Amino acid sequence: MCGIVGYIGNNDAKEILLKGLEKLEYRGYDSAGIAVKNADGVHVFKEKGRIADLRDNVDETVLSNTGIGHTRWATHGPPSKVNAHPHQSTSERFTLVHNGVIENYSALKREYLEGYTLKSDTDTEIIVLLIEKLVNEGNTVEEAFRSTLKLLKGSYAIALLDNQNDETIFVAKNKSPLLVGLGDDFNVVASDAMAMLQVTDQYVELMDKETVIVTKEKVTIHDLEGNEVSREPYTAELDASDIEKGTYPHYMLKEIDEQPAVMRKIISAYRNDDQELEINQDILSAMNDSDRIYIVAAGTSYHAGLVGKQFIENIAGIPVEVHVASEFSYNMPLLSEKPLFVFISQSGETADSRAVLVQIKELGHKSLTITNVPGSTLSREADYTLLLHAGPEIAVASTKAYTAQIAVLSILADVTARSKGIKPKFDLIHELGIVGTAMEALCEQKEEFEAIARDYLATTRNAFFIGRHLDYYVGLEGALKLKEISYIQAEGFAGGELKHGTIALIEEGTPVIALATQEAVNLGIRGNVKEVAARGANPCIISMKGLQEEDDRFVIPEVNEILTPLISVIPLQLISYYAALHRDCDVDKPRNLAKSVTVE
Ligand code: G6P
Repeated sequence: MCGIVGYIGNNDAKEILLKGLEKLEYRGYDSAGIAVKNADGVHVFKEKGRIADLRDNVDETVLSNTGIGHTRWATHGPPSKVNAHPHQSTSERFTLVHNGVIENYSALKREYLEGYTLKSDTDTEIIVLLIEKLVNEGNTVEEAFRSTLKLLKGSYAIALLDNQNDETIFVAKNKSPLLVGLGDDFNVVASDAMAMLQVTDQYVELMDKETVIVTKEKVTIHDLEGNEVSREPYTAELDASDIEKGTYPHYMLKEIDEQPAVMRKIISAYRNDDQELEINQDILSAMNDSDRIYIVAAGTSYHAGLVGKQFIENIAGIPVEVHVASEFSYNMPLLSEKPLFVFISQSGETADSRAVLVQIKELGHKSLTITNVPGSTLSREADYTLLLHAGPEIAVASTKAYTAQIAVLSILADVTARSKGIKPKFDLIHELGIVGTAMEALCEQKEEFEAIARDYLATTRNAFFIGRHLDYYVGLEGALKLKEISYIQAEGFAGGELKHGTIALIEEGTPVIALATQEAVNLGIRGNVKEVAARGANPCIISMKGLQEEDDRFVIPEVNEILTPLISVIPLQLISYYAALHRDCDVDKPRNLAKSVTVE
């Protein structure tokens, strides 16, 4: 969601900025812009739509060594050229890009900017107007920048150009992610390292409320009080090939296919020299000291959390609650005496989850983040981190991160159980190995899933996913995948629940995709399928080997029953992918969605 890049050095900034923005496309956006500065002044180019549209609109002849860029995911005001960033001050001396939401922007406008005419509907424009106003009142740019930041309530990552200063990009952040990248005679700014991996792998993390002066030779960080802060850079451990599509038509398909390899990576990352699964002792102590675990997450990660609850309760014997992050802050359950909070987040940046983390830290509770992104905000701010080792996930619809989350949760449950002296019912390393092989087999049968998508979903208006027990949670994820990328109205239901209202929506031919991988509820889910079929639905049963019946449309290989979500989701991911293709949808960049949701 929204992305920022900046470059100051000796090369032409606009190509570096545009390439950087292309690498941020995956975060989700609806308009984009860049501003580059040279001796003639600041040149702003912006466009509604894709970076490719922006590229077409950039004047190739404008050469510059300094610039900032932005992808916007609309919050205040619709996607449009006017609302796209960068925004400029009245005299056009200052040019600014911003991620996040300024909650008090109306109040600031009323209080400080009476008589000013705003060009856009954004909350951002007031920031750049305030900076210019304070400079006009006699403050230096740095003073004006800092004083303006002190007035802002909400979240921001900001990069600012001053037309009267060739040497500097002014940078700041609060709650929204932003990094500074270091180079030889150049420096860069980026919402994430991927954007600027093209020029450097050395990055410096920024903390909330810090301000940064970026020149081509130097990066100077100050805290809010104006004290200089020194911080060592880290090397972004990203392989440039991880963020390329290679021969795949879409990132989503590549990432679905990567799942078997991710399973193997996870096993080796969490296996010690004695060939046993191991996790950090402090995390184990935190698990064992807690009387209840509160999983907090959003979207797909929430669905992984529902599966994780089953693992932790059934394998490790600790009660677990799973909460949607956006509801938690104002609807906090009565907490147990010794809670442990587990944040599951692919990006590690989800603002709703972060808000809960801030809240529970204030209450003095311990926290663990399970994330794919080392150094992400949730990882930095929680007490402990477990990494997913899934490699960068670029497609907006999450696939390999979901299965990685489930695998890591299974390891957390297994190792916790052993540490409590609970004898494991199975050898998890062996079982996850079987899962990897089963995943491979599924990924090799793409034509089957393409056919299901064609037969059931090519023209339908809606679809239902049903399942019982673990299959219910996977059904929720299947429905989310389908609606995210194909825009088919899809809902996941517990098999027994559909008839309590929603069955009224079943019409002749309504597709109902049913999962049947759980022996204990196999008869139950098949009864539910009969109920909907009797009312005209077109059922598509995906069962597990050993439980299959004659008319089942697809049978997945057998894996340990508690681990079935790791493989039963793959048909649903692939069916969604092909349904989206049949319907000519932009699979990797679905409308209105953002990969990293950095506003609450
Ligand atoms: C967005 C993405 C989803 C993701 C959710 C939570 O809505 O589009 O794919 O599941 O955020 O993101 P997180 O990074 O916290 O897992």
